[in-house]
Amino acid sequence: MSLSGWKQVETEAARIAATDLRTLANRADLAPFIWTAPHIEADVAKQPIDARAMAAMQALAVERRLEDKIKSLFAAGIVNASEHRPALHWALRGGGKGIPAVDVMNREAEKASAFADLGRKGGLGFPLKTILHIGIGGSDLGPRLIWDALRDYASTGPDIRFVANVDPEDFREATAHLEPATTLVLVVSKSFKTPETASNAQLARDWLVEHLGEKQANDHLAAVSSAPDKAKAWGAGDDRIFPMDEAVGGRYSVWSAVGLSLQIALGAERWTQFLAGAAEMDAHFRDTPLAQNTPARLAMMDVFLHTALGIPNRTVLAYAHRLRKLPDFLQQLEMESNGKNAADDAAGLVGPTAPMVWGSVGTLGQHSFHQLLHQGMRQTAIEFVASRDAGGGDWTRGRALLANAFAQAEGLLAGRSTAEASKQLAEQGKTGPKADDQARHMDMPGNRGSTTVLLEALTPEAVGALIALYEHRTFAAGILWGINPFDQWGVERGKVLAEELDKALAGGDPGKRDPSTLRLVQRTRR
Ligand code: F6P
Repeated sequence: MSLSGWKQVETEAARIAATDLRTLANRADLAPFIWTAPHIEADVAKQPIDARAMAAMQALAVERRLEDKIKSLFAAGIVNASEHRPALHWALRGGGKGIPAVDVMNREAEKASAFADLGRKGGLGFPLKTILHIGIGGSDLGPRLIWDALRDYASTGPDIRFVANVDPEDFREATAHLEPATTLVLVVSKSFKTPETASNAQLARDWLVEHLGEKQANDHLAAVSSAPDKAKAWGAGDDRIFPMDEAVGGRYSVWSAVGLSLQIALGAERWTQFLAGAAEMDAHFRDTPLAQNTPARLAMMDVFLHTALGIPNRTVLAYAHRLRKLPDFLQQLEMESNGKNAADDAAGLVGPTAPMVWGSVGTLGQHSFHQLLHQGMRQTAIEFVASRDAGGGDWTRGRALLANAFAQAEGLLAGRSTAEASKQLAEQGKTGPKADDQARHMDMPGNRGSTTVLLEALTPEAVGALIALYEHRTFAAGILWGINPFDQWGVERGKVLAEELDKALAGGDPGKRDPSTLRLVQRTRR
């Protein structure tokens, strides 16, 4: 690696690592650690960073030509070098007019919107009560997250049920008590060859034919794909096939016709607001100098925490029931974008790239894994995501939700010393050797950092802005790590091996494999 700026980053990291975080977090001036963007603010004051560390990361961003890369992204430049493609997810929310590929995408989006309106008006030839959304990965996680987040805005309109796994139990559960006659089966697959989706598309079609007959069944099919010919072969009519552009990555695709079920169920007004919030975040990311650019600064902080300080995990705690799928969504967005080791930049890598991203919904995690977060011996960067309108109209419970989020962050930072625990026990009349031993077990090291991302409210605009924030943060972090955030060469091998092992489990020759795999095939083949 030939980046002169990285040496300074490592120097700052060594200094920060030797600094008590409680002291560091006792900021004389808080403002530089509250990073704002449209509809959102990120409080990073409890994280192990300071002005000097961020200055070193800014210098690295200059050396990595981050600003040029941002310009290239929004100019439909080839930012996905290994697949020789631009990345055009931002164009799905209004950017890039006049760029030929974008003008084509906009025409496709109009076709999808017209179909969504038709669906809402009952113009599909049957009463539409449910959309059965079949897809996996980026063709599933974004729609699920946004449906949970915004479904309360859908006063009328159909429900959405999701199927993703090849395990037929998933399909069975999703279609339990579901009426084929009032269901639209929407298969979403950019490649239209993902095995799980192909399997569920077949199950769904058989289910429709069984209840409605061959002809009528096709009237209940629709498909979203970059391979329209494959969708047509499956049985969807030309007017029910909605293309998605190859230049929109699956994990960045919720804004495209991948979100068609959302457009139908939420309606045009809410869908437009969702896109508009993301467009505001695009403008912020595109037009704001790095020093005030919130997605870029979060990316710089990520690289500092996970590579310079070597923190291997990020734990996302969504303190909002409606954002409970956010950790799952971010797992794909961040780990499929940046979980790589091949340098895309001639200067090479600066060290290990993306962290393991995991998490859950608050407050449930407090009754499950927070014990390790407070007293465990593993490091993770914690990210609380909450909304100022927590609890919707029920402020008493919304207040409790926020109080828990803030209490966890405070407790992780402040900890509780053995002496404080002893004092607590003494106040309960517990002293002596037994109490001293209990106090030892009650010690909480603290000095554990966290970010608190606060949405102004859980509205379509704010949710759109939040997802766009994470998309741009992920892209910027990939550039700083020196990798290509838009390809995913690591996912293909597993698919090939699965196909071979499927044949072996059906009785075919398993061929040469490791002893454990051969035994597992022997134990389960039929
Ligand atoms: O296998 C990984 C992946 O290709 C993801 O990148 C993608 O979102 C998912 O599978 C589904 O792919 P498709 O939309 O082509 O079915």
